[in-house]
Amino acid sequence: MLDFIFHNPTKIIFGKETIKFIAQEIPAESKVMITYGGGSAKRHGLLDKVKAALNGYDLTEFGGIEPNPEYETLMRGLALARKKKINFLLAVGGGSVIDGTKFMAAAIPFKDDPVLLLADSGSAIRQALPIGTVVTLPASGSEMNNRAIITRKALQFKQAIMNSFLFPRFSVLDPTTTFTLPAKFIGNGVVDTFVHVLEQYLTYPVNGKVQDRLAEGLLLMLIEEGPRALTEPENYDVRANLMWGATLGLNGLLGAGVPQDWAAHRCGYELTVLYGLDHAQTLACLVPAMLKIRAGEKRQKLLQYAGRVWGINSGDEDARINDAINKTRAFFESMGLPTRLSDYGVKSECIPRVLEKLKEHGLVNLGERQDVTPEMMQKILENCL
Ligand code: NZQ
Ligand code: ZN
Repeated sequence: MLDFIFHNPTKIIFGKETIKFIAQEIPAESKVMITYGGGSAKRHGLLDKVKAALNGYDLTEFGGIEPNPEYETLMRGLALARKKKINFLLAVGGGSVIDGTKFMAAAIPFKDDPVLLLADSGSAIRQALPIGTVVTLPASGSEMNNRAIITRKALQFKQAIMNSFLFPRFSVLDPTTTFTLPAKFIGNGVVDTFVHVLEQYLTYPVNGKVQDRLAEGLLLMLIEEGPRALTEPENYDVRANLMWGATLGLNGLLGAGVPQDWAAHRCGYELTVLYGLDHAQTLACLVPAMLKIRAGEKRQKLLQYAGRVWGINSGDEDARINDAINKTRAFFESMGLPTRLSDYGVKSECIPRVLEKLKEHGLVNLGERQDVTPEMMQKILENCL
């Protein structure tokens, strides 16, 4: 196992009707800005519940944070928050709302140009307003991590920042809030979570048995419960497992002490910004191709994954690996996500554009061994078509 420091300060408040506990977590004198997305939280009555729980607080609302939150939108939120002298932010939504709110939390007290906070993976962040979250879409893990992904449309750049000031103080996870999710976003959430686990598991062995077994447990849960969320959308236990699984999938626990990959995520961001694919759709295309092209360097872990996650234990090694990759693809498809770029209308012309963007963003040596070069990425993208 590799050396590591693990620190996660976010309090999790989990279960039915837990929104009423929010007030216990926010100091009474706070001026709170509630942030939300395109309107689902309003439409489904969640915003009213949150406001009722904060009865007596000085509240401001900021809605309209779009999927893949855009810098310009967040600048409007920042202006409103400064005008109203906000000192606590409460995000009600999925990864986009939470990420956008994290960025605002860092930008509001920042004296210089907020764009500087996005440079160098967010290393300039020295403070942030406290934030809480009410999660409505289990996927990103943002509710219990220190990351945020912000889109700068003008530059065609999805920038990832990571800084310990971005951990939420608390997150409310009420699985019933996910009952209103359309099938498409259920599928996206399950696939994104699955890939978060793979990015931290399917690398090379370092005898991290704790991490491996945790990862394998989560993958098996997703394979079992993911399809059930589509056929039994109001099954509370299914939703509860998916919700807690998504949070654990990217709260730092699985990746502590083991190598991490993230090449599919990095390349996926370019596909989203260039072609508008949802985050999980990019992963559904890239991951099977990544595993195929990189099967040599990932051989030992792929064999372990084949045996322990998919029960493939016989046949020659290449056939087992192939079978595991095919089963991964079939699982993504069973969750409603096509796994070929051509299924989304993206053609081979994308390859030079994506490679150019990766180069422009300095992402030329990706993966757990930094050996995913532009030449290898080209092969991977060709395999995605
Ligand atoms: O905007 P509204 O109207 O609320 O609708 C949203 C949105 O259209 C809808 N939705 C959310 N909860 C709902 C609901 N509809 C009905 N009922 C509910 N309960 O779902 C749509 C997608 O929401 P979004 O927040 O964009 O999805 P997700 O949670 O998948 O977040 C994606 C973003 O997270 C980033 C991605 O890059 C992307 O920008 N990620 C963040 C990470 C992190 N912070 O650690 C890691 C991830 O790998 C990922 O990159
Ligand atoms: Zn992701």
